[in-house]
Amino acid sequence: MLSWEQSPSVALMRQERAWVEVNLSAIAHNVRQLRRFLSAQTALMAVVKADAYGHGATTVAQTVLQAGATWLGVATIPEGIELREAGVQAPILVLGANHTSEQIRAIAHWKLQPTLCTPRQALVFSEVLAASPQHCPLPVHLKLDTGMSRLGTPWQEAAAFVKLVQHLPNLTIASVYSHLATAEDSNRTIAKQQQQRFETAVAQIKAWGLHPPCLHLANSGGTLSDPTFHYDMVRVGLAIYGLYPAAHLSTTITLKPALQVKARVTQVKAIPAGTGVSYGHRFVAEREMQIAVVAIGYADGIPRNLSNKMDALVKEQRVSQIGAVTMDQIMLDVSAVPDLEEGEVVTLLGQDGNQSIAADDWAATLGTISWEILCGFKHRLPRIAIGQALQDSVSRCLEG
Ligand SMILES: Cc1ncc(COP(=O)(O)O)c(C=O)c1O
Repeated sequence: MLSWEQSPSVALMRQERAWVEVNLSAIAHNVRQLRRFLSAQTALMAVVKADAYGHGATTVAQTVLQAGATWLGVATIPEGIELREAGVQAPILVLGANHTSEQIRAIAHWKLQPTLCTPRQALVFSEVLAASPQHCPLPVHLKLDTGMSRLGTPWQEAAAFVKLVQHLPNLTIASVYSHLATAEDSNRTIAKQQQQRFETAVAQIKAWGLHPPCLHLANSGGTLSDPTFHYDMVRVGLAIYGLYPAAHLSTTITLKPALQVKARVTQVKAIPAGTGVSYGHRFVAEREMQIAVVAIGYADGIPRNLSNKMDALVKEQRVSQIGAVTMDQIMLDVSAVPDLEEGEVVTLLGQDGNQSIAADDWAATLGTISWEILCGFKHRLPRIAIGQALQDSVSRCLEG
């Protein structure tokens, strides 16, 4: 991701064949909306793993921290290091599990905060850290499995786990947390059962005289669906990027999608009736048509399974994509778009005039989730930051 200082001018941006536009104003808006929705006692962790769900981790991190988030969440150590190297100083929780001494030393060196999932892992951390007293005590976050059946100590063993870590040298407990499996479902039975287990575990921990300084449970779905899931912190990913985890949660706060995918028309041509289009001729023109070739394909993250099933926006009109999506290019039926020329910008995801195409639309067509769509755009597509931060930098330049 280009930082906002490096973002090319709009003129330069237009020379790209295809790109992802990231609206930092929208991200800042979403953070402010979430902040208003949360009580002052609840901290907001912005989950910026997977390159901030495809939006560009460094720029998003800077934006969310300015807008009111105080924590960042990443999945891996390199994701955390990338942020530290960019100068990000906020606390960073590594949500994934790490065990090797190299990983532990890297976590300590880069001032990242690990998730500990088992007593054994805690013992290894404590032992390895003994050799680097300058990094001790290392803040650690203890993960409980309350029903996700992924990382974490079984909730029934939480008190013993916390007690062990409390007594281990070189570690200090920063939080105890768990993760919801069905937070976005309108039926909250399972989420409530997980919450009940979390609270039972916490009560047992407290009964042993142990008081974790921070408890957290909710992702975007949990945050938007039920304030009793908020506790001391929420870990929000999808909603930061302006998408709702489920349609029934869209009335809670107003979010603005931040990501748009655009590409350029590289050729316009007429084809007679009966002409096959693209590999396999999975589309055959029934009439004479005007088609446009657009410089984006599955190597950029346009799922090939959308072949013949997706739309695009050109000159504020919705048009159909035709034929197989190829590695670098797609074709559109632009018969109804007058005066279309090479170089015209096509919106694959996003808004053009009154028309819009959402990641949720693609997800519905493909039978997947919007999280996967956002994370699917490849690095070949430059991320172009637009919006408030860019404008701020331009103003600063003009003033300075
Ligand atoms: C442990 C954990 N917390 C929070 C999140 C953020 O989830 P969401 O994007 O649904 O807000 C994730 C993402 O998968 C996660 O793994």
